[in-house]
Amino acid sequence: MYVDVLVGLQWGDEGKGKVVHVLAQEYDIVARFQGGPNAGHTIFPDASDQPLILHHIPSGIVHPHTIAFLGAGMVIDPIILREELRRLEERGIPWQNRIIIDARAHLILPTHRLLDRLSEQAKGARRIGSTLRGIGPVHMDKTGRNGLPIGIAHTRDFHNQYAYLRDKHLRLAKAIHPEAFAQTQANHPGIDPAEEQQWFAAIHDLLDSIQIVNGPYWLDTHLNRHQHRILVEGAQGTLLDNLFGTYPYVTSSRTLATAVCAELGIHFRMIRHVYGVAKAYVTRVGEGPFPTECALPDQEWLREKGGEYGSTTGRPRRCGWLDLVALRYAVMLNAVHGLFLTKIDVLSGRESLPLAIAYQHKTSGKQSREFPVHLQEWLPIYEECPGWDRLFVAPQTLHPSVRQYIQRIEEATGVPVLALSTGPEKEAWMPLRELASLPAQSGIF
Ligand code: GDP
Ligand code: IMO
Ligand code: MG
Repeated sequence: MYVDVLVGLQWGDEGKGKVVHVLAQEYDIVARFQGGPNAGHTIFPDASDQPLILHHIPSGIVHPHTIAFLGAGMVIDPIILREELRRLEERGIPWQNRIIIDARAHLILPTHRLLDRLSEQAKGARRIGSTLRGIGPVHMDKTGRNGLPIGIAHTRDFHNQYAYLRDKHLRLAKAIHPEAFAQTQANHPGIDPAEEQQWFAAIHDLLDSIQIVNGPYWLDTHLNRHQHRILVEGAQGTLLDNLFGTYPYVTSSRTLATAVCAELGIHFRMIRHVYGVAKAYVTRVGEGPFPTECALPDQEWLREKGGEYGSTTGRPRRCGWLDLVALRYAVMLNAVHGLFLTKIDVLSGRESLPLAIAYQHKTSGKQSREFPVHLQEWLPIYEECPGWDRLFVAPQTLHPSVRQYIQRIEEATGVPVLALSTGPEKEAWMPLRELASLPAQSGIF
């Protein structure tokens, strides 16, 4: 019937998983359109305090009435996906007959991961800080028309195509970093046979238990014939978009809401609302410019209070103050209707909070409210917003400084804050506006 889209507006880890957990009960299908096991979406699906971290499967899977759809634009590591299914089972979440994959989604080979690692090692100080999940190399193969879509795993030629690509990767790996490659060859030539075997076994298990479909037809049938509602869950974030992010310190997929139609194979007229998720401050994991990154005592304060360690790699996340210039850029690029502001609880306990409201060029002194292309050449200009000691002064009554912080975000971005997330659990949630009251994206609703 319609598609709503939810995307991250910063450098990932905005709390997309948590927000989807809250919203997905109102939808029939939750879908991912891009990314792969580089994503780590954390939710607390039950009364235990044990997090569930999802990498490929959309977070809405925890609602038993939903179907999870893994779209054509995704890249899939079968070993990690199979492990995710095992974890769902462990948590008592039934997944049989509830997971669908577009046959066009590309497979990540063990040698894609090898290439990612060696290419980061070879880059040295210029490394991206990738999650080492093989994302860059699998997208190189995809756009270079050498990749293996999961659908061909059904065919007889699959093993030959795999072997051809693997051998090519091994030659490439040797050229990228001969010394590091030689070390990988110490125990066995080529790729570890046990890893290769595990990879094939995982694909075999997935083909046995998951439906692989012709995505656009499947989606069309569910939207138009069954009148289903779809929530699309973005991975990574706007500033990691391969084109409009902080290139080259980005991921390899297109993360914007405007990529949803192209990567899922649906019509743009099906999109109703675009929701953006932003943390009340900013984090970045991996390398690359980060203008509002804060200095040491504040950096550690935010990291410890916010538990800012990577969901996928466990790396400490870099922390900084909210950048309203970057947020306005992200709202513009995604045509966001409204924001979900997460982790506002983390900011309690400060006298004041800096907000970046403009940029100044380091040499010319020129000021600008545009998010710069060459971010390294610019410094943020801050205004101070009064802080708060607690979020609520009475039940359901926000501290006036929290309200002021929200108002400043709304003024700067031109869109409403729809709800606040005040803790990692689903219940830590404060709606501020009716979602149904938002204007729709296109004229057909
Ligand atoms: P995602 O990749 O966008 O889904 O975000 P991650 O799951 O990687 O990182 C967000 C982290 O913040 C997770 O550990 C969440 O459990 C946690 N989280 C989400 N929302 C909130 C919130 O409102 N407050 C606090 N304190 N933690 C939150
Ligand atoms: P979620 O969906 C935060 C970052 C990496 C690195 C860059 C490129 O959990 O928000 P890649 O492995 O994609 O080649 O790495 O992108 N990155 C993320 N940062 N959250 C993510 O996903 C990320 N996925 C990739 O740290 O800087
Ligand atoms: Mg994450």
